[in-house]
Amino acid sequence: MSSRVHVIDHPLVQHKLSLMRMKSTSTSAFRNLLTEVSVLLAYEVTRDMPTHQVTVETPMARTSVPMLDGKKIVLISILRAGTGILDGILRLIPSARVGHVGLYRDPKTLTAVEYYFKVPREMSDRDAIVVDPMLATGNSAVAAVERLRETRPRSIKFVCLLTCPEGLKNFHSHHPDVPVYTAAIDSHLDEHGYIIPGLGDAGDRLYGTK
Ligand code: URA
Repeated sequence: MSSRVHVIDHPLVQHKLSLMRMKSTSTSAFRNLLTEVSVLLAYEVTRDMPTHQVTVETPMARTSVPMLDGKKIVLISILRAGTGILDGILRLIPSARVGHVGLYRDPKTLTAVEYYFKVPREMSDRDAIVVDPMLATGNSAVAAVERLRETRPRSIKFVCLLTCPEGLKNFHSHHPDVPVYTAAIDSHLDEHGYIIPGLGDAGDRLYGTK
């Protein structure tokens, strides 16, 4: 496995993902599970975050302790399903800034079309974490990261719940320097661009729109 792809095979992540795959799982359970899994994914994606020392007073003594540069992180949610992951990561990094990229998938060509883009100022000081539950064809992820690069963030990582070999290949052929964090790499894509076995349409399952 390439060092650019991190599969989070923690048993808690895998168990929750298995529940999410079941078609009998309700919308509210699916939403809660995605939030819970995202907290665990956030734990892994932030493993190498830099810290700086600050001096604090404990009830017992004065000491130097590590603290995160939390404000330097910007979470970039690919609408609409990215919001499900965003909520979980924000529980772990509440001071992170948030940007949004609105893309829809043209059902005929499966290419990504942008309709919204808003990110914080001073991106060159920030480490960006782009989130979308499904890295399927990879076209939305490629387009979102391409657009994000124009704002020159200090670094970019990509977090998803599920991906497949085709999506990873497409994504890394455009963005070889962006590591992908995922809970699983499934078998393949079908002819409609859905991940098999997957979990269906993440947006529809999150918001009950089907
Ligand atoms: N988007 C989804 O929500 N599910 C897939 O399987 C592929 C893309």
